Amino acid sequence: MAKQKLSFVCQNCGNVTSRWQGKCEACGEWNTIIEENTAGGIGGGPQRGSLRKGKPVALLPLSGELEEAPRIRAGIAEFDRATGGGIVRGSAILIGGDPGIGKSTLLMQAAAGLSRSGNRVVYVSGEEAVAQVRLRAQRLKAAETDVQLMAETNVEDILATLATDRRPDLVIIDSIQTLWSDLADSAPGTVTQVRSGVQALVRYAKSSGAAVILVGHVTKDGQIAGPRVVEHMVDAVLYFEGEGGHHFRILRTVKNRFGPTDEIGVFEMGDSGLREVANPSELFLGERNAKAPGAAVFAGMEGTRPVLVEIQALVAPTSLGTPRRAVVGWDSARLAMVLAVLEAHCGVRLGQHDVYLNVAGGYRISEPAADLAVAAALVSSLSGMALPSDCVYFGEISLSGAVRPVAHAAQRIKEAEKLGFAQSVLPQAAAEGQKMREGITHEVESLPDLVARVAG
Ligand code: TYD
Ligand code: MG
Repeated sequence: MAKQKLSFVCQNCGNVTSRWQGKCEACGEWNTIIEENTAGGIGGGPQRGSLRKGKPVALLPLSGELEEAPRIRAGIAEFDRATGGGIVRGSAILIGGDPGIGKSTLLMQAAAGLSRSGNRVVYVSGEEAVAQVRLRAQRLKAAETDVQLMAETNVEDILATLATDRRPDLVIIDSIQTLWSDLADSAPGTVTQVRSGVQALVRYAKSSGAAVILVGHVTKDGQIAGPRVVEHMVDAVLYFEGEGGHHFRILRTVKNRFGPTDEIGVFEMGDSGLREVANPSELFLGERNAKAPGAAVFAGMEGTRPVLVEIQALVAPTSLGTPRRAVVGWDSARLAMVLAVLEAHCGVRLGQHDVYLNVAGGYRISEPAADLAVAAALVSSLSGMALPSDCVYFGEISLSGAVRPVAHAAQRIKEAEKLGFAQSVLPQAAAEGQKMREGITHEVESLPDLVARVAG
C-alpha cells in the first residue's frame, strides 16, 4: 500500500507546498492550490527490489553515418511546417489551446491525412463519445479513412489496448485533462493525475516508437491542470491560437527537440473544418483601408517566414486625468517604451492623449522589430496624415532613440515586393545591399528621422 501523503499542489504551475495557501508563491496565481495525495505521484515511484543494469552506447555509430530522424507527414503543409517537417516517430507532442479553438478539428484532419498516406492512427477521445467523433469526421470529410477510434480515459486501459493491437504509428490523446491513472489517487484533471498519465504515455512513445500527440486545454482559472505542468516532459510543444471573433487560427511551435521553434502554420476555420492559408500576409492585409491615418504595415517574420500585418493606432485627446493606453496584439510595456522615446527624443507629447493600438485581424506580434511601424502609426494618427499606402516599416527602437537593425531584412523586403509594396522604411544599418529592387528604400537612423518623414 502506498503511504498516504497529503500535499498541496498548485494547479497552474505544479508547485508543492505543505500547507494550503490562497496564493501560490511560485507563480503568483490565486486560488489554484488544492489538496492532493501525491504518494507515488510527484517524485515518487515504485520501489524496486533489484537493480537493473544498463549499457551505455557510443554517441556516433562506428560507420559515422547519422540517420535523419524518421518523420511522418500529414500532407497538410501548414501542419507539417509547424511540426518541423513532420512528426518524429517515438516523440511526444503537446498541442495546447483554449477550449473550443479547434484542436480536435485540427487533429482529426491531421489523423485523416496521416492515415491516407498509409500510417496507422489511433484517436483516443476522452471528451467525446465515438458517435460524436464520427459525426465530426464526416463533416470534415475524414470518415472514409482508416483512423481507429477509442473512447477511453484510463491510462492503463489505453496502454493495454494499444499493446494488444498492431503497433500504431501515431496515437492522439484528446485530452490530457480527462486522463486518470490507477496509480494516482487524485481526481482526474489534477496535476498529479495529468502528470502521471502523461509520463506513462511518453514512456510508451519512447519504448514503442509510436508518436504520441497530447491535447491540453489552456485554463485561465487554474481549476484544471494546464499544459504548462507537462511542457518539460514532452519533445515538442505547439499552441493553437486565435482570437474569438476571427476565423483564422495559428499553430505556433514554442519548443521542438527535433526542429526549429517560432514556426507557425496558419489556418482558416470554415464550415468543413480548417483550411490552410498558404500566404498569411494576403489574409492579414485583406481588409485594409490604406487611406486612413494611423495605419502602418509592418514587415514581420515568423520563424523562417515573412508575414505582413497592419498596425492601427488611434491617438485622441483625453478627458481623463490619467490617459488610457490599450493594446491588442502587442506588448503594452513596449508601447509605453515607444511613447516615452517619442516624447523624450522627438518632442511628440502624448501625455494628454488616449492611445489605442491594434494589430489587424487579431494577430499577435512578439518581435521588437515592430517598434518602427508602431511609431509611424502613432505619429500618423496624431498628425492626421495617412502614411503612403505602398510602404512597409520595420526596425527596433532603442531607448536613446536610435533605430537598430533587425534580422532577415532581405526576406522582409522580398515579401513586401511580392505583395506590391514599392517603398520601405528601415534601419540604416540594415539597408546595405537590402534595397528594394524596383521601389524606393528609405533609411532612417533615428526616431526623429522617422517622425520628420511621417509628419512631413
Ligand atoms: P473543436 O475542434 O471542438 O475545439 P477544441 O477541441 O479545441 O475544444 O472546435 C470547436 C469549434 O470549431 C466549434 O465552436 C465549432 C467550430 N467548427 C467549425 O467552425 N467548423 C467545423 O468544421 C468544425 C468541425 C468546428
Ligand atoms: Mg476538443
